[in-house]
Amino acid sequence: MKDQVIIFDTTLRDGEQALSASLTVKEKLQIAYALERLGVDVIEAGFPVSSPGDFESVQTIAKHIKNSRVCALSRAVAKDIDAAAESLKVADAFRIHTFISTSTVHVQDKLRRSYDDVIDMGVAAVKCARNYTDDVEFSCEDAGRTPIDNLCRMVEAAINAGANTINIPDTVGYTLPNEFGGIVAQLFDRVPNIDKAIISVHCHDDLGMSVANSMAAVQAGARQVEATINGLGERAGNCSLEEIAMIIKTRADFLGVHTNIKHDEIHRTSKMVSQLCNSPIQANKAIVGANAFSHSSGIHQDGMLKNKNTYEIMTPESIGLKNQALNLTSRSGRAAVKSHMDTLGYTEKEYDLDELYADFLKLADRKGQVFDYDLEALMHFANLREEDDFFKLNYLSVQSGSIMATTSIKLQCGEEEKCEAAVGNGPVDALYQCIYRLTGYDIVLDKFDLTAKGEGEDGLGQADIIANYKGRKYHGTGLATDIVEASGQALLHVINSIHRADKIAEIKERTATV
Ligand code: KIV
Ligand code: ZN
Repeated sequence: MKDQVIIFDTTLRDGEQALSASLTVKEKLQIAYALERLGVDVIEAGFPVSSPGDFESVQTIAKHIKNSRVCALSRAVAKDIDAAAESLKVADAFRIHTFISTSTVHVQDKLRRSYDDVIDMGVAAVKCARNYTDDVEFSCEDAGRTPIDNLCRMVEAAINAGANTINIPDTVGYTLPNEFGGIVAQLFDRVPNIDKAIISVHCHDDLGMSVANSMAAVQAGARQVEATINGLGERAGNCSLEEIAMIIKTRADFLGVHTNIKHDEIHRTSKMVSQLCNSPIQANKAIVGANAFSHSSGIHQDGMLKNKNTYEIMTPESIGLKNQALNLTSRSGRAAVKSHMDTLGYTEKEYDLDELYADFLKLADRKGQVFDYDLEALMHFANLREEDDFFKLNYLSVQSGSIMATTSIKLQCGEEEKCEAAVGNGPVDALYQCIYRLTGYDIVLDKFDLTAKGEGEDGLGQADIIANYKGRKYHGTGLATDIVEASGQALLHVINSIHRADKIAEIKERTATV
């Protein structure tokens, strides 16, 4: 049996579909570049038929990503498969992933079909996908609750139809590790053509067993694991990629398998995904939580000082966790930016330092703190720069006490600078009223979060908001030493995105009527 476990990342599909605000095409491409650097074998970039935005993201990712196979999801219907193929065809090679439910409850109550019909639909879907590519993955949705005889029939038929990866999802996170490993083992025993396909698993974490179930499946012969960064995904999430990768590395002695993952990219990929997805990581999360490598008890610290092996089964360096580098802000010079780029592994041949530094300064003015992944984005998107923000906060003054707060601002609105003052329940409320009046946008906020970023005196306040405007959700983030200012930047981030979207819609409408 082959000893490589293929890592199939579905952060941009299963992970993204569970976020409260969807990612922009640019953010998805940024994550795809990070996944490619991390060494994932397959990137599931989206579900193209589900929206024009998803279609565009898959197409953009398929165009730019060269070292991971790009894949798109489709239900077992021709129009989905056609859309997946259309979005992927810019790539030299690609994978189509098609799926249908196989559990009795899904077949009877969701699809309202006979099991024979479901097999026929699955077979037809695989054949249709094979017209576009020879890399076709077929999933039996809710396989974890599918009667084993039915599952064996479906898997055999899909392989005969041309699927070369068969995915066995525990869609609702219901099975136990030995039970799920047993399902995979039975497939190997009972499906006659099983050697013609790679067996993959896709486990959800409803009962906290997605990683254990995936590992049990690997031990039973599965050679692809589907996972997401930080375990993002539907409901309680998916199997966490960083946990699977580090289990396979740390227990290679016992498991005898390996992956292509570059482990020292794990930390930064996890941070980037958490930040862009506005999805904080719990401090005690395995591998990437803030406390994953900190030892608190005196006895443990004593042991660590004597011999790290006493309490450390893997080093922080192995996931790329180095001593906190200095934060980059608008006060950082070219040398600091270059040094960060060197640490990230880029040579000056790959970018123009003058251009990068000019872009960096603009971003630092807007964001406060610039992260390494921002630098990478500036480099990758040098020819895809966003035009400047229409609204900019030029001046902010806050007076707050125990009863009411007063805020006055100067806001750059395109060419014109406008002033406003307002009274509110607190300084943020007063500031938001000023911004609403000056921009003319009145936004409904679904969520408002404040967190501290960085440490000690360099620490900054980060505001994250989720806003609802005309039925679409927008994520805005702001970072500043002052939390009221950070809150204002977050709202302006949202308003500038809406303003940009409105302008594009206006131009489209005008050109359509000409
Ligand atoms: O959880 C699931 O079953 C899925 C399939 C589409 C693979 O996400
Ligand atoms: Zn899933």
